[in-house]
Amino acid sequence: MDRIAIIGGARLQGEIPISGAKNSAIKLMAASLLTDEPLRLTNMPRLADTRFLGKLLRRLGTEVVESDGPDGAETLLTTPEIISGFAPYDLVRQMRASFNVLGPLLARNGQAKVSLPGGCTIGARPVDLHLKALEALGAKIDLHEGYVYAQAPRGLKGAVIDFPFNSVGATEHAMLAAVLAQGDTVLENAAAEPELADLADCLNAMGAKVTGAGTRTIHIKGVGRLSGATHSVIPDRIETGTYAVAAAMAGGEVRLTRTRTDFIQALLDKMVEAGVEVIPHNDGLTIKRNGGRLQAVEVTTDPYPGFATDLQAQFMALMTLADGESVFRETIFENRFMHAPELGRLGADISVHGGEARVKGVASLEGAQVMATDLRASVSLVIAGLAAGGETIVNRVYHLDRGFERLEEKLGACGAQVRRLKGDGDEEVE
Ligand code: EPZ
Repeated sequence: MDRIAIIGGARLQGEIPISGAKNSAIKLMAASLLTDEPLRLTNMPRLADTRFLGKLLRRLGTEVVESDGPDGAETLLTTPEIISGFAPYDLVRQMRASFNVLGPLLARNGQAKVSLPGGCTIGARPVDLHLKALEALGAKIDLHEGYVYAQAPRGLKGAVIDFPFNSVGATEHAMLAAVLAQGDTVLENAAAEPELADLADCLNAMGAKVTGAGTRTIHIKGVGRLSGATHSVIPDRIETGTYAVAAAMAGGEVRLTRTRTDFIQALLDKMVEAGVEVIPHNDGLTIKRNGGRLQAVEVTTDPYPGFATDLQAQFMALMTLADGESVFRETIFENRFMHAPELGRLGADISVHGGEARVKGVASLEGAQVMATDLRASVSLVIAGLAAGGETIVNRVYHLDRGFERLEEKLGACGAQVRRLKGDGDEEVE
């Protein structure tokens, strides 16, 4: 397995172009199952997760062709017909979002058998809201031996679905199914993350009739068929926030381009409160930090537009060196502080009690061997390593490869000393 070695202490200077959003790209890829015409996705990130989904889609009948275009990497997805409605355990287990092929398979094919994804390190992550939404749309759902058997032989029917709380995946799943349902669907208390609006934009380009995505109420008028389209994936807000925090951690001046500041306003507000200089511009922002100590702040994760749970670990790494005590409240996932003991190995002072972590700022961190436990936790360890004295080695970096494209190259271009130590190839999966 590969590892990442970081020699801390280098200030960063330069520019980092942000890639297309992983968490949008994988749902957009699933949308290609809804039509027999080609869907061309541009500004695509090239990640382990997009490869996983490509593998599953090929099995279901999609031709997946990757190329380079003027707007970055492109993926052309064409599904002339669904040749199988079966998504096996091994493929869904490797990436939870694979579960979202269920809705499109059902909408286009009338039936599907898709493995339940199971829990993962950050929490139990059930899919009850996904299944309730599909049932509300008229699907008959049975669970046997870890599989969801879903049927809608006479098609799906529009419905009013009132989610008990905001779920990104369940809202996306309902949208992916309802676009081809007969009649109107209303999604109440929907997730409002930018990836929802991106999915709706893509579906509308394919001929769907979705309004209100990006707000708490989404209206969908079902259509008989969807066509092909070309759609550019939105910038990755979590990658943007991650490099913003990395620049603040290492110090220096880094310009993040091809992205949007409004997607990470809650993070930027906290960074400014902590003492980091943030300068927004047309296609992104510049992060500046010259010398001075940072101040501790309080953070509570929340659905968008609140502070993203996917940026909590990275910001915690930054706060390990702030003056005073920072408090982190994690409200989205029940077990998302696994980076805390690993940051502790670098000298951070963090105590965790249930959903709250208290971080007492220390004078300095010292490099050590640490273990990546999930995608965002892994990158928080890289960030800490940028400011730690000596060498930090992050083990199990396959987590990082799921969601960060060319991380060593992007940080290295700004002067960070980050290199990949090649392993023996015995890759683990989650
Ligand atoms: C998406 O996960 C993201 N993943 C996550 O990013 C992100 O952390 C999360 O949204 C919150 O923003 C993808 O987009 C692929 P949810 P998702 O449904 O859709 C509970 C990363 O690192 N819940 O909004 O799975 C659930 O357990 C990943 O890129 C139910 O109880 O998140 C959680 O506590 C990690 N029943 C809460 O809702 C359900 O049926 C919010 O989850 C569905 C969810």
